Parts: sequence; structure tokens; C-alpha cells
Amino acid sequence: MKTVDMVIRGGKVVSSQRIISASVAIDGGIVVAVGQDDTMPPARETVDATGLYVLPGAIDSHVHFRDPGYPHKETWKSGSAAAACGGVTTVFDMPNTSPPTGTIEALQMKLRAAESSYVDFGIHALFGDESVDHLEDLLDAGATSFKAFVGNTFGNLPAPTDGALLEGFEKLAPLGVRTVVHAENSSIMARRQKRLRDAGRIDPLAHLAARPAVAEIEAIGRVATLAEWTGARVHIAHHSAADSLYVLRDAKARGVDITAETCPQYLLLNTNDMLRLGGILRVNPPVREARHNQPLWDALREGVIDMIATDHAPHAPEEKTRESIWECDCGFPGVETQMALMLTEVNRGRASLMDYVRWSAEAPAKAWGLAGVKGVITPGAHADIVIVDMDRTGTLSENRLRSISKISPWHNRAVQGYPLHTLVRGRFVMRDGELVEDAAGWGKTIKGIQAMPEAQVRHPETFITAVTEPGAAAREADITRSPS
Ligand code: NCD
Ligand code: ZN
Ligand code: ZN
Repeated sequence: MKTVDMVIRGGKVVSSQRIISASVAIDGGIVVAVGQDDTMPPARETVDATGLYVLPGAIDSHVHFRDPGYPHKETWKSGSAAAACGGVTTVFDMPNTSPPTGTIEALQMKLRAAESSYVDFGIHALFGDESVDHLEDLLDAGATSFKAFVGNTFGNLPAPTDGALLEGFEKLAPLGVRTVVHAENSSIMARRQKRLRDAGRIDPLAHLAARPAVAEIEAIGRVATLAEWTGARVHIAHHSAADSLYVLRDAKARGVDITAETCPQYLLLNTNDMLRLGGILRVNPPVREARHNQPLWDALREGVIDMIATDHAPHAPEEKTRESIWECDCGFPGVETQMALMLTEVNRGRASLMDYVRWSAEAPAKAWGLAGVKGVITPGAHADIVIVDMDRTGTLSENRLRSISKISPWHNRAVQGYPLHTLVRGRFVMRDGELVEDAAGWGKTIKGIQAMPEAQVRHPETFITAVTEPGAAAREADITRSPS
């Protein structure tokens, strides 16, 4: 038998379907065998995983690495180091950088920043009124997917008009490309925020009062309607409310290709924590009352929400701790704490390790066109692997974050279950809990391996390109007149 690069011995290998005692052979960055230890080929390196679990690395659909534009908050290098140390092997970066990732030049700047990445990555380019004419060009230049800020948030990028959303979906539906949507209604929020400020409210809960669940209900519904009409694929970012789950559930039942993520903060935190933490926990959408937590878990279990992402949104401590809630930047780091937090909940019996792998790896791989290549540990797949210790206990501490942003609502939270080693395409990026410094730059774009399922276009005869083509008017008159 040919000697391979590595065999991971003696661990328990986890997929969404089963947990098996097996060894994993890796060669050239690819998993080449999974099975009984005595069937493994000879290897140049052996990793002992006795007593540990071997999981596909997490795929985080939603990070803000702030590069270019905000190096005091994060850089691609620091953010991807945080990902590596959090057991995250692929990230999708958001376009509200400076400049925003809505032009070819800005996209090229981002791709250059990403050359320092420890982990593999996709790039969500900006879908806005300004960029809607250039979506195909952005794809050709390396974007893997898009992000539409339908709700206002950090960066203050204007929400696309409904007209531009429809037209962009008409362009993306035939290409099968998925668009992430920040789904909150900007008009409702802007008006309420002004009314709250005028009334003198500067307390933490005023942030929630400005962004009620109905803003999420309305925006998801609108986006689902446009996606359904055109056949475009959409993905709801940071789903936060129990009240808006029915919109997702109904859209899925109608056959809309809509996926959704939620984040640990919406599953585990609520207004009690907002009162305790104030601006540190200010995030869009807001964490809500405790009654929202359990229904989000139930939605994950049912598949109404597909996956866990982090919305890793780092800011400097002084930007998070101002007196008025309105002056605190929204978001906080999360890419390196997600796995320990979720494994802790697995240990508490709230979900199985198989559920966790479905939510953290398999479902995002499927949504972004990486099924079978990432998010699974099977022969032929990338060896993106995290080896976790479900017994190790500890306390999360903001001082230990690799992120530049050393302020976190998870500070001092007790956890049980840690990622110990992270491999990206067979190479250690974290080993024994330590970043492997010289793996910077190992991360690659997933652009070349991305394969979205076949596009499902609907109502193409109504698309603006069809009705503005030369001769369209005559053709339509003909169709109207012809008997059938
Ligand atoms: C994000 C950020 O800081 O970029 N902030 C946040 O509160 N979630 C933007 C976003 O995802 O809405
Ligand atoms: Zn958002
Ligand atoms: Zn975000």
C-alpha cells in the first residue's frame, strides 16, 4: 500500500448520520480512507485521537474580517487565525468593508487581503443599487455569492430598492447563485430609532425596541416573495426571532430555495444578558426576549433553520462601551467561540454531535455548492477536519481571543468541549490549541470547486431583459393575439 501523508487514529468520526470509531487517512490534502485502523495505509505522520471526536471543520457562512478598511477591528490574517483556532476551516466574508465589495477593484483588494488566510474562504460581494448592473462581472472576478443589506447595519450601506432586488434576482436565478440577505425592514427601524431617540431613550433595550420582530417578518417575507417569483436562491442571515420562523417554514413548503442561519447569541442569550452587558451585546438583529431561544433550537432540529453561523463582527472595546446604546457599534467577535459554545450545549443534551455537524458543516457546504467536497469526512473530500475534546472544561476569556477585538459577551462563560486541532486540506492550522503561525496564506478561495445545483428559473418571460429586448413589444402583442 502507498504511504500517505497522515493517519488520524483511534478517534470517533462524526457525520450528520452516525458516529463511528474509525481512523482517517489523508493524502495530498484529501481524505483517502475512513475505516478500521488495521485497514489504514502506512503514513508519514500519525495523529493520536484516542478519546477524541473527529468532525468536519465548521463552515461559517457569515464573518466580517474588516479587510480592507478597519484594521483596528480585524484583518484577514487575525480573523482567519481566530477561525482556525475556533475549529472553522472555511469562512464566507461579508462586503461591508471599506471600500464595500461592490466593485471589481474593491473585490480585488479583498482577494489580496485574503492571500494571508489560514482557512479556506468564499467572498460575498455586495448586492446593492450601485452594483446590480455588475453582478456577473463580480462573479467572474471571484465572488462566490452575494449579500444584500436589506436592513441597515454597520457600514450604513443603503438597502437595495425592491426594484433592484427583483432585477438582481432575475440575473442571479439563471446562474444558480445564492444571495445572503440581512432581513430587517430599514424604513421601520429608522423611524422607530428616531422616535426612541427623541423620547430620550439611550438604554440597552431601546435597541430592541427599534428593531421589533415584525421588521424581520416583513423583510424575510418580501425577499422570499421575490425569490419565489424569479427562482433565485436566497439565504437569511442571523435569523433572530421565533415570530418570523413561520415565514421561513411557509416559503420552504412552497419550494422556495431559501436557507437560513442562526447564531449562538440568538440561541443562548436574551434581554437579560442585554441588561447585564449593554453595548457589548448590541448586535443587528438584536437578541430578543428569552421566549425566542427555544423555538430557534426547535427550528434547527426541524430543518427550518439550516445552519449555525457566527456573524463574527469585531469592533474595538471603546466602540462597544459608550454611554448611549445608539453610539455603540453593532456586532462582536464569534468565529472562535462558536464551537466551544455549541459543544457545551451538546454536552448538556440540547442537541447531538450529529446535529451539530449537520448545522455547522454539512448544511453550509450544501448551501454554497460544496457538498461532498467540504463539510464531510469521506474519501474524496477535502481533509478539513477538527479534532475536539468533549471533556475539556474551561472558561471563555476575551483576553485569549486571537481576534483583534478583545471584547465579547461570552467573556467568563463556562464551557465543556473544545476544538484541539484544526486541519485545512490536510495541514494543521491549529495544533494542541495553538495557532500554527506559518500556515498563514494556506487558505484558498473555494471559487474553483464551487458547484451550485442546476438553476430553477421562474417567470423568465417577465424579466426586464426579456421585456426590453428589441422586438419584445411586437412579440408580446403576438402572444396576446394568438388563439390557443
Ligand atoms: C455587522 C457588522 O458589524 O459588520 N454587525 C452586526 O450587528 N451584526 C453587520 C451585520 O451583519 O448586520
Ligand atoms: Zn447583518
Ligand atoms: Zn454580519
